Amino acid sequence: MSGMRPTGKTHLGHLHGVFENWRQLQQRYECFYFAADWHALTSEYKDPLVIQETMGEMFVDWLSVGIDPEKSTIFVQSWVKEHAELHLLLSMITPLGWLERNPTYKEQQEELKGKDLGTYGFLGYPVLQAADILIYKAHYVPVGKDQLPHLEITREIARRFAFLYRQVFPEPQALLTEAPNVPGIDGRKMSKSYDNAIYLADPPEVIAQKVSQMFTDPQRGRRTDPGRPEVCSVFTLHKIYSPPETLREINEECRRAGIGCVDCKRILTKNLCDYLAPLQERRRHYLGRLSEVRDIVEEGSARARRVASATMEEVREAMGMAW
Ligand code: TRP
Ligand code: SF4
Repeated sequence: MSGMRPTGKTHLGHLHGVFENWRQLQQRYECFYFAADWHALTSEYKDPLVIQETMGEMFVDWLSVGIDPEKSTIFVQSWVKEHAELHLLLSMITPLGWLERNPTYKEQQEELKGKDLGTYGFLGYPVLQAADILIYKAHYVPVGKDQLPHLEITREIARRFAFLYRQVFPEPQALLTEAPNVPGIDGRKMSKSYDNAIYLADPPEVIAQKVSQMFTDPQRGRRTDPGRPEVCSVFTLHKIYSPPETLREINEECRRAGIGCVDCKRILTKNLCDYLAPLQERRRHYLGRLSEVRDIVEEGSARARRVASATMEEVREAMGMAW
Protein backbone atom coordinates (compact mmCIF):
# COMPACT_ATOMS: atom_id res chain seq x y z
CA MET A 1 0.00 0.00 0.00
CA SER A 2 1.22 3.45 -0.81
CA GLY A 3 -0.11 6.91 -1.36
CA MET A 4 0.80 10.15 -3.02
CA ARG A 5 -0.38 13.66 -2.27
CA PRO A 6 -2.06 15.33 -5.25
CA THR A 7 -0.29 18.67 -4.94
CA GLY A 8 1.14 19.16 -8.42
CA LYS A 9 2.06 17.69 -11.75
CA THR A 10 4.01 14.46 -12.14
CA HIS A 11 7.65 14.81 -13.11
CA LEU A 12 10.45 12.45 -14.09
CA GLY A 13 11.52 12.10 -10.47
CA HIS A 14 8.11 10.63 -9.60
CA LEU A 15 8.20 8.44 -12.68
CA HIS A 16 11.47 6.70 -11.82
CA GLY A 17 11.37 7.08 -8.05
CA VAL A 18 7.80 5.98 -7.42
CA PHE A 19 5.69 4.78 -10.34
CA GLU A 20 8.19 2.43 -11.91
CA ASN A 21 8.41 0.73 -8.56
CA TRP A 22 4.65 0.65 -7.99
CA ARG A 23 4.17 -0.86 -11.41
CA GLN A 24 6.64 -3.65 -10.75
CA LEU A 25 5.25 -4.48 -7.32
CA GLN A 26 1.95 -5.34 -8.97
CA GLN A 27 3.50 -8.55 -10.31
CA ARG A 28 4.27 -9.87 -6.86
CA TYR A 29 1.78 -8.36 -4.45
CA GLU A 30 -1.79 -7.33 -4.02
CA CYS A 31 -1.43 -3.54 -4.14
CA PHE A 32 -3.43 -0.57 -2.91
CA TYR A 33 -2.45 2.83 -4.29
CA PHE A 34 -4.26 6.00 -3.40
CA ALA A 35 -4.37 9.77 -3.76
CA ALA A 36 -3.78 11.20 -0.29
CA ASP A 37 -6.02 14.23 -0.68
CA TRP A 38 -6.54 14.72 3.06
CA HIS A 39 -2.79 14.69 3.54
CA ALA A 40 -2.50 17.25 0.75
CA LEU A 41 -4.94 19.42 2.64
CA THR A 42 -2.68 19.57 5.69
CA SER A 43 -0.33 21.85 3.73
CA GLU A 44 -2.63 23.24 1.00
CA TYR A 45 -5.66 24.13 3.11
CA LYS A 46 -5.43 27.83 2.26
CA ASP A 47 -5.52 27.16 -1.45
CA PRO A 48 -7.06 23.71 -1.83
CA LEU A 49 -8.04 24.06 -5.49
CA VAL A 50 -4.69 22.62 -6.52
CA ILE A 51 -5.82 19.30 -5.06
CA GLN A 52 -8.89 19.06 -7.28
CA GLU A 53 -6.96 20.29 -10.25
CA THR A 54 -4.22 17.71 -9.99
CA MET A 55 -6.16 14.66 -8.86
CA GLY A 56 -7.57 13.64 -12.25
CA GLU A 57 -4.24 14.06 -14.00
CA MET A 58 -2.49 12.13 -11.30
CA PHE A 59 -4.66 9.09 -11.95
CA VAL A 60 -4.18 9.57 -15.69
CA ASP A 61 -0.43 9.40 -15.04
CA TRP A 62 -0.74 6.26 -12.95
CA LEU A 63 -2.73 4.51 -15.66
CA SER A 64 -0.34 5.73 -18.34
CA VAL A 65 2.70 4.30 -16.62
CA GLY A 66 1.01 0.94 -16.27
CA ILE A 67 -0.62 0.88 -12.86
CA ASP A 68 -3.28 -1.64 -13.75
CA PRO A 69 -6.70 -1.34 -12.09
CA GLU A 70 -7.30 -5.03 -12.80
CA LYS A 71 -4.36 -5.88 -10.61
CA SER A 72 -4.24 -3.03 -8.10
CA THR A 73 -6.83 -1.13 -6.16
CA ILE A 74 -6.52 2.56 -6.95
CA PHE A 75 -8.61 5.00 -4.98
CA VAL A 76 -9.08 8.38 -3.33
CA GLN A 77 -8.41 8.59 0.40
CA SER A 78 -11.33 10.94 1.14
CA TRP A 79 -13.73 8.64 -0.71
CA VAL A 80 -13.07 5.98 1.90
CA LYS A 81 -14.32 7.68 5.06
CA GLU A 82 -13.17 4.77 7.19
CA HIS A 83 -9.66 6.26 7.08
CA ALA A 84 -11.01 9.25 9.00
CA GLU A 85 -12.66 7.10 11.61
CA LEU A 86 -9.53 5.06 12.17
CA HIS A 87 -7.49 8.25 12.31
CA LEU A 88 -9.76 9.51 15.08
CA LEU A 89 -9.60 6.27 17.04
CA LEU A 90 -5.82 5.97 16.70
CA SER A 91 -5.45 9.58 17.80
CA MET A 92 -6.84 8.50 21.19
CA ILE A 93 -3.88 6.21 21.80
CA THR A 94 -1.05 8.12 20.13
CA PRO A 95 1.14 9.95 22.65
CA LEU A 96 1.72 13.58 21.73
CA GLY A 97 5.46 13.15 22.22
CA TRP A 98 5.69 10.73 19.29
CA LEU A 99 4.27 13.40 17.00
CA GLU A 100 6.18 16.32 18.46
CA ARG A 101 9.51 14.65 18.03
CA ASN A 102 8.75 13.36 14.56
CA PRO A 103 11.69 14.77 12.54
CA THR A 104 9.65 15.42 9.38
CA TYR A 105 7.26 17.55 11.42
CA LYS A 106 9.93 20.10 12.27
CA GLU A 107 11.69 19.85 8.90
CA GLN A 108 8.54 20.51 6.93
CA GLN A 109 7.60 23.43 9.13
CA GLU A 110 11.04 24.88 8.44
CA GLU A 111 10.95 24.10 4.76
CA LEU A 112 7.45 25.31 3.98
CA LYS A 113 7.85 28.60 5.78
CA GLY A 114 5.24 30.34 3.63
CA LYS A 115 2.59 27.94 4.92
CA ASP A 116 1.32 28.05 8.44
CA LEU A 117 1.69 24.44 9.52
CA GLY A 118 1.06 25.01 13.20
CA THR A 119 -2.23 23.15 12.96
CA TYR A 120 -3.77 20.21 14.74
CA GLY A 121 -4.20 18.45 11.39
CA PHE A 122 -0.56 18.79 10.45
CA LEU A 123 0.67 17.48 13.78
CA GLY A 124 -1.57 14.47 13.25
CA TYR A 125 -0.28 13.78 9.73
CA PRO A 126 1.52 10.59 10.77
CA VAL A 127 -1.58 9.31 12.59
CA LEU A 128 -3.62 9.69 9.44
CA GLN A 129 -0.86 7.95 7.52
CA ALA A 130 -0.86 5.12 10.06
CA ALA A 131 -4.62 4.79 9.55
CA ASP A 132 -4.13 4.63 5.76
CA ILE A 133 -1.70 1.79 6.11
CA LEU A 134 -3.16 -0.20 8.99
CA ILE A 135 -6.71 -0.17 7.70
CA TYR A 136 -5.58 -2.44 4.83
CA LYS A 137 -3.42 -4.53 7.16
CA ALA A 138 -0.58 -3.77 4.80
CA HIS A 139 2.63 -5.75 5.07
CA TYR A 140 4.80 -3.57 2.88
CA VAL A 141 4.81 0.14 2.18
CA PRO A 142 6.95 1.30 -0.75
CA VAL A 143 8.16 4.77 0.19
CA GLY A 144 11.19 7.00 -0.03
CA LYS A 145 13.67 7.39 2.81
CA ASP A 146 11.99 10.63 3.87
CA GLN A 147 8.95 8.60 4.94
CA LEU A 148 10.75 6.22 7.27
CA PRO A 149 9.91 8.20 10.43
CA HIS A 150 6.22 7.99 9.49
CA LEU A 151 6.52 4.27 8.97
CA GLU A 152 8.15 3.93 12.37
CA ILE A 153 5.28 5.82 14.02
CA THR A 154 2.85 3.54 12.18
CA ARG A 155 4.58 0.50 13.61
CA GLU A 156 4.61 1.98 17.09
CA ILE A 157 0.91 2.70 16.87
CA ALA A 158 0.22 -0.86 15.69
CA ARG A 159 2.19 -2.21 18.65
CA ARG A 160 0.48 0.07 21.10
CA PHE A 161 -2.91 -0.98 19.77
CA ALA A 162 -1.96 -4.64 20.24
CA PHE A 163 -0.69 -3.91 23.75
CA LEU A 164 -3.82 -2.01 24.84
CA TYR A 165 -6.46 -4.16 23.12
CA ARG A 166 -5.43 -7.00 20.87
CA GLN A 167 -3.49 -7.63 17.73
CA VAL A 168 -5.49 -6.47 14.75
CA PHE A 169 -2.78 -5.03 12.54
CA PRO A 170 0.37 -6.66 11.23
CA GLU A 171 3.42 -4.40 11.65
CA PRO A 172 4.07 -2.96 8.22
CA GLN A 173 7.55 -2.70 6.76
CA ALA A 174 8.93 -0.03 4.53
CA LEU A 175 9.98 -1.25 1.10
CA LEU A 176 12.93 0.83 0.06
CA THR A 177 13.81 0.11 -3.52
CA GLU A 178 16.73 1.55 -5.35
CA ALA A 179 15.74 4.16 -7.87
CA PRO A 180 17.94 6.07 -10.27
CA ASN A 181 19.06 9.52 -9.24
CA VAL A 182 17.02 12.05 -11.23
CA PRO A 183 18.56 15.52 -11.18
CA GLY A 184 16.54 18.55 -12.22
CA ILE A 185 17.73 21.15 -14.66
CA ASP A 186 19.78 22.95 -11.99
CA GLY A 187 21.48 19.73 -10.87
CA ARG A 188 19.62 19.49 -7.57
CA LYS A 189 17.17 16.67 -6.93
CA MET A 190 14.20 17.10 -9.24
CA SER A 191 11.37 18.72 -7.33
CA LYS A 192 8.40 20.93 -8.00
CA SER A 193 9.45 23.25 -5.20
CA TYR A 194 12.87 23.88 -6.76
CA ASP A 195 11.21 24.74 -10.06
CA ASN A 196 13.70 22.49 -11.85
CA ALA A 197 11.44 19.69 -13.04
CA ILE A 198 10.69 18.11 -16.39
CA TYR A 199 7.05 17.04 -16.35
CA LEU A 200 5.46 14.01 -17.98
CA ALA A 201 3.13 16.41 -19.70
CA ASP A 202 5.89 18.56 -21.21
CA PRO A 203 5.79 18.54 -25.02
CA PRO A 204 9.06 17.93 -26.93
CA GLU A 205 9.72 21.67 -27.47
CA VAL A 206 9.52 22.32 -23.75
CA ILE A 207 11.73 19.33 -22.99
CA ALA A 208 14.29 20.53 -25.56
CA GLN A 209 14.25 23.96 -23.98
CA LYS A 210 14.65 22.62 -20.43
CA VAL A 211 17.45 20.24 -21.41
CA SER A 212 19.26 23.08 -23.18
CA GLN A 213 19.20 25.01 -19.90
CA MET A 214 20.64 22.16 -17.87
CA PHE A 215 23.77 22.74 -15.84
CA THR A 216 26.76 20.75 -17.10
CA ASP A 217 30.29 20.30 -15.84
CA PRO A 218 31.21 23.78 -14.56
CA GLN A 219 34.81 23.19 -15.65
CA ARG A 220 33.68 23.01 -19.26
CA GLY A 221 33.40 26.73 -19.86
CA ARG A 222 34.43 26.48 -23.50
CA ARG A 223 33.71 23.92 -26.18
CA THR A 224 37.42 23.00 -26.24
CA ASP A 225 37.61 22.29 -22.48
CA PRO A 226 37.42 18.59 -21.66
CA GLY A 227 34.48 17.60 -19.42
CA ARG A 228 33.74 15.13 -16.65
CA PRO A 229 30.54 13.20 -17.26
CA GLU A 230 30.50 11.93 -13.68
CA VAL A 231 29.74 15.40 -12.34
CA CYS A 232 27.33 16.34 -15.13
CA SER A 233 23.55 16.07 -14.66
CA VAL A 234 23.03 15.73 -18.38
CA PHE A 235 25.07 12.56 -18.26
CA THR A 236 23.10 11.34 -15.25
CA LEU A 237 19.96 11.60 -17.35
CA HIS A 238 21.66 9.92 -20.29
CA LYS A 239 22.17 6.94 -17.99
CA ILE A 240 18.40 6.60 -17.75
CA TYR A 241 17.39 7.33 -21.32
CA SER A 242 20.29 6.49 -23.61
CA PRO A 243 21.53 3.07 -24.73
CA PRO A 244 24.92 1.75 -23.50
CA GLU A 245 26.71 2.49 -26.81
CA THR A 246 25.73 6.14 -26.61
CA LEU A 247 26.79 6.32 -22.98
CA ARG A 248 30.17 4.89 -23.79
CA GLU A 249 30.67 7.26 -26.67
CA ILE A 250 29.66 10.37 -24.73
CA ASN A 251 31.77 9.28 -21.80
CA GLU A 252 34.84 9.10 -24.05
CA GLU A 253 34.18 12.06 -26.30
CA CYS A 254 33.28 14.44 -23.47
CA ARG A 255 36.59 13.74 -21.75
CA ARG A 256 38.57 14.76 -24.80
CA ALA A 257 36.29 17.57 -25.85
CA GLY A 258 35.27 15.53 -28.88
CA ILE A 259 31.59 16.30 -28.33
CA GLY A 260 30.13 19.64 -27.25
CA CYS A 261 27.43 20.04 -24.63
CA VAL A 262 24.96 21.36 -27.18
CA ASP A 263 25.17 18.15 -29.21
CA CYS A 264 25.21 16.02 -26.12
CA LYS A 265 22.00 17.68 -24.94
CA ARG A 266 20.43 17.27 -28.34
CA ILE A 267 21.01 13.52 -28.13
CA LEU A 268 19.54 13.43 -24.64
CA THR A 269 16.47 15.38 -25.74
CA LYS A 270 15.87 12.97 -28.59
CA ASN A 271 16.22 9.88 -26.40
CA LEU A 272 14.13 11.32 -23.59
CA CYS A 273 11.36 12.36 -25.97
CA ASP A 274 11.39 8.92 -27.62
CA TYR A 275 11.19 7.32 -24.21
CA LEU A 276 8.24 9.47 -23.19
CA ALA A 277 6.36 9.31 -26.49
CA PRO A 278 4.34 6.12 -25.84
CA LEU A 279 3.61 7.25 -22.30
CA GLN A 280 2.43 10.64 -23.51
CA GLU A 281 0.29 8.91 -26.12
CA ARG A 282 -1.44 6.95 -23.35
CA ARG A 283 -1.79 10.14 -21.31
CA ARG A 284 -3.66 11.76 -24.19
CA HIS A 285 -5.81 8.67 -24.48
CA TYR A 286 -6.89 8.81 -20.83
CA LEU A 287 -7.16 12.60 -20.73
CA GLY A 288 -9.76 12.32 -23.45
CA ARG A 289 -11.67 9.81 -21.32
CA LEU A 290 -11.63 11.41 -17.90
CA SER A 291 -15.06 10.08 -17.01
CA GLU A 292 -13.81 6.53 -17.55
CA VAL A 293 -10.84 7.29 -15.35
CA ARG A 294 -13.25 8.52 -12.70
CA ASP A 295 -15.27 5.31 -12.99
CA ILE A 296 -12.10 3.26 -12.48
CA VAL A 297 -11.23 5.24 -9.37
CA GLU A 298 -14.79 4.96 -8.05
CA GLU A 299 -14.70 1.24 -8.48
CA GLY A 300 -11.32 1.08 -6.77
CA SER A 301 -12.60 3.20 -3.92
CA ALA A 302 -15.58 0.88 -3.47
CA ARG A 303 -13.22 -2.08 -3.30
CA ALA A 304 -10.97 -0.29 -0.82
CA ARG A 305 -14.02 0.57 1.27
CA ARG A 306 -15.00 -3.09 1.58
CA VAL A 307 -11.59 -3.98 2.98
CA ALA A 308 -11.46 -0.91 5.19
CA SER A 309 -14.90 -1.41 6.67
CA ALA A 310 -14.16 -5.03 7.54
CA THR A 311 -11.07 -3.88 9.46
CA MET A 312 -13.11 -1.19 11.20
CA GLU A 313 -15.51 -3.79 12.56
CA GLU A 314 -12.58 -5.47 14.26
CA VAL A 315 -11.18 -2.17 15.48
CA ARG A 316 -14.46 -0.98 16.97
CA GLU A 317 -14.89 -4.25 18.71
CA ALA A 318 -11.36 -4.22 20.08
CA MET A 319 -11.78 -0.66 21.34
CA GLY A 320 -15.15 -1.19 22.98
CA MET A 321 -17.05 0.77 20.35
CA ALA A 322 -19.23 -2.09 19.16
CA TRP A 323 -22.35 -1.78 21.27
N1 TRP B 1 3.21 10.97 3.40
C1 TRP B 1 3.34 10.38 2.09
C2 TRP B 1 4.19 11.31 1.22
O1 TRP B 1 4.23 12.49 1.45
C3 TRP B 1 2.02 10.17 1.43
C4 TRP B 1 1.20 9.15 2.16
C5 TRP B 1 0.07 9.37 2.85
C6 TRP B 1 1.48 7.76 2.24
N2 TRP B 1 -0.42 8.21 3.36
C7 TRP B 1 0.43 7.21 3.01
C8 TRP B 1 2.48 6.95 1.76
C9 TRP B 1 0.40 5.84 3.31
C10 TRP B 1 2.46 5.58 2.04
C11 TRP B 1 1.41 5.04 2.81
O2 TRP B 1 4.80 10.83 0.28
FE1 SF4 C 1 27.87 16.95 -19.73
FE2 SF4 C 1 27.56 16.01 -22.16
FE3 SF4 C 1 28.67 18.42 -21.77
FE4 SF4 C 1 30.00 16.22 -21.14
S1 SF4 C 1 29.36 16.82 -23.17
S2 SF4 C 1 29.79 18.05 -19.87
S3 SF4 C 1 28.36 14.89 -20.43
S4 SF4 C 1 26.59 17.83 -21.31
